[in-house]
Formats: sequence, C-alpha cells, structure tokens
Amino acid sequence: MHVFQAIRERRSIKNFNPLHRFNENEENLLIELAVQSPSSFNAQHWRLVNVKDTELRKKIRAAAADQPQVTDSSLLFVVCADLKAWQKSPDRYYRNAPQDIQDLLVPWMGRFYEYDDQLQRDEGIRSATLIAHTMMLSAKAMGYDSCPLIGFDPVEVSRLIKLPDNHIIAMMLAIGESTKQAWPKPGYIDRAEMLFEDTF
Ligand SMILES: Cc1cc2nc3c(=O)[nH]c(=O)nc-3n(C[C@H](O)[C@H](O)[C@H](O)COP(=O)(O)O)c2cc1C
Repeated sequence: MHVFQAIRERRSIKNFNPLHRFNENEENLLIELAVQSPSSFNAQHWRLVNVKDTELRKKIRAAAADQPQVTDSSLLFVVCADLKAWQKSPDRYYRNAPQDIQDLLVPWMGRFYEYDDQLQRDEGIRSATLIAHTMMLSAKAMGYDSCPLIGFDPVEVSRLIKLPDNHIIAMMLAIGESTKQAWPKPGYIDRAEMLFEDTF
C-alpha cells in the first residue's frame, strides 16, 4: 500500500475481531518498522509493553472505561517512554555514525537533558508518539487497523504493567482486524486556524 493511502485510510477503530491473532512474522515486521521511527538524539525513549495475557487485558479494560478495543484487538501495546534513556550508555545510539558526529552528539545529549525534567518528559512523549504513529500506518499498510487510547486510569495501568521508576505511559495502542467501519471522518479544522506563514 502506498504511504499516502495508508495515511488517508487510517482510522481509530473501536471494534476488532477478538478471534484474530497476528502471526510471528507479522508481529516482527510491525516492530521492525516501528523502530525506524525518528527520535530526538536517536535516544529511542520508547518502551513497548505487548500485553498478551488475557486476564491482564481484562483488568486493563476495566481501567480504561470498559473500551472493547483493549480486550478484542489482536495486539495491545502500552506505549511507554524511559525518561532516562539519554543517560543509558548513549554512545550506543550513534555506534554506526561517523566519529565526528559521535564526538559532537553523545556529550551534548547529557548537557541538553540533565537539568530539565520537563524536557525529559516532553521528549519521552514525542518519541512514544512517533513510534505509535509509525505503528498505526504500518498496521494499515499490512491490512489491519488500529486505535490509539488515552482514555484510561494511568495510575492503575502503571500498576498493572509494573511500570518502572522514571518511565511514563504515553498512550495505549490497539491493533487488529476491524469488524465495523469507522464513522465518517469527524471533521478537520480550517487551514486558516492551523497553518501560518512565517509567524502566528
Ligand atoms: C493520543 C490519543 C488518544 C486517543 N484516545 C482514544 C481513546 O481512548 N478511545 C478512543 O476510542 N479513541 C481515542 N483516540 C482516537 C481519536 O478520537 C481519533 O484519533 C480522532 O477522533 C480522529 O479520528 P481518526 O483517528 O479516525 O481519524 C485517541 C487518539 C489519540 C491521538
């Protein structure tokens, strides 16, 4: 599928076939494509929890306003971010880059993040959001559908997935075989409200 078509046809789907499962090759392809996403300083803050356990899915659904996507989708990812990714052997993020790039960016990363907790959080959300979007478009191109979710109790879901310290949940992402078409696209704001030339 052409990338334009995947972008145009991706919708947030609420109803999935609970009997459908991804095979291992499809799951691997989805992850292989996902990690190609861009991230600031290539720090790859994203951490994905692939929730396979049926009972755990039921508990997460209870913490997610009973949204059926949580139990019925073929795959449910809790898309998280490691806020301290920038501290964790950052030289590996550039191990294949030219030496001068490594020398520039690796020490810069520490200085950039060290004293700014808000920036660390923003960057985690940015990276997690970008990987989630890559996964939504990849799923569409593979013939599947998806739904990003933020309608859940983050404290309870953090507890259920045993979220480590210095990690946050950015969203959940359900992926699977749709059983019901999305309603018509809900409506876009006017370009004049979202697109500016040079300044606001
Ligand atoms: C971060 C985020 C969280 C969302 N949370 C939910 C959710 O909890 N449940 C849901 O049904 N849809 C959720 N949505 C889907 C939006 O409602 C949907 O993207 C929007 O209405 C546009 O429709 P479309 O995705 O079909 O184009 C979420 C979307 C985003 C980006």
